[in-house]
Parts: sequence; structure tokens; C-alpha cells
Amino acid sequence: MRISRRGVPFLACAVAAPLLLAGVVATTAWAQATAPDAAAIYKSKCLMCHGVNGATKVPATNLADATWAHGSSPAEVSAVIRNGVKGTLMAAFKGKLTDPEIEALTKYVRSFDKTLK
Ligand code: HEC
Repeated sequence: MRISRRGVPFLACAVAAPLLLAGVVATTAWAQATAPDAAAIYKSKCLMCHGVNGATKVPATNLADATWAHGSSPAEVSAVIRNGVKGTLMAAFKGKLTDPEIEALTKYVRSFDKTLK
């Protein structure tokens, strides 16, 4: 078979386009697979002390009562998760959770407080 000169770029596109598409699909699947699942992490590492949706009867551990002893900003909440609260049962999760996991949890636990934006 003789491939004309004009046929070469066409062939190149015909090969490259599906490869590119496969790459995009694979990247999207990878991103979904690796995005931290805050709800699942909360369930396994936080729920036993902070309750379902942060609603405990104990004020110190309640994350839904619009009272934040250590501040309610994303930076303050993530700092508590990262560093813990010395002298309490709140442990430091730095080193146990990745930064993206801590950020996802910060967003998740702040969502328990309906007065926060
Ligand atoms: C062993 C029990 C325990 C576990 C597990 C735990 N916490 Fe805590 N957490 C506490 C206690 C107790 C406090 C209150 C500390 C204090 O008295 O200031 C607290 C405080 C907090 C605060 C600050 C609340 C405020 O009012 O400012 C945040 C945010 C928080 N925890 C998030 C988490 C997250 C997220 C996880 C899971 C990764 C987690 N905690 C796991 C016991 C726990």
C-alpha cells in the first residue's frame, strides 16, 4: 500500500486522537480515585468522638453548634486537625493524614455548622 504525503498527517491524527482521549479518560478516572473521601475518613477517624455530622452532646467535641473553641476559619480548623489540641483527646493528624485529606476534612467538618459559609 502506498501512503501519499498528505496521508501521513492524517494517519498521525488518527492514531494520536484516540490516544489523547484515552489519556484524558484515564486522568479523570485517576483524579476521582485519588480525591480524598472526607466522609469516609471522618467515619473511620473522627466519628467516634465527634458523632454523626459533628452533633455530639458534649460541647467540646460538637462541630455543629456554631461554637468553635479554636476558631472557625478554614485555616484555624485545619490547624486543629493538623496539630491536635494538647492536653485533650484531640490528637494531631499531621503525618497520619495527607494535606489534601486534611483540607477535605476541614471543608467537611465546617459544613456541619450551617451558620458558616
Ligand atoms: C479520641 C477522640 C477524638 C477523635 C478521634 C477526634 N477528635 Fe477532634 N476533638 C476531640 C476533643 C476532645 C476536642 C476538643 C478539644 C478541646 O477541648 O479544645 C476536639 C476538637 C476538634 C476540633 C476543634 C473544635 C472547636 O470547637 O474548635 C476540630 C475541628 C476537630 N476536633 C476535628 C477532628 C477531626 C477532623 C477528626 C478526625 C480526623 C477528629 N477531630 C478526631 C476529640 C477527638
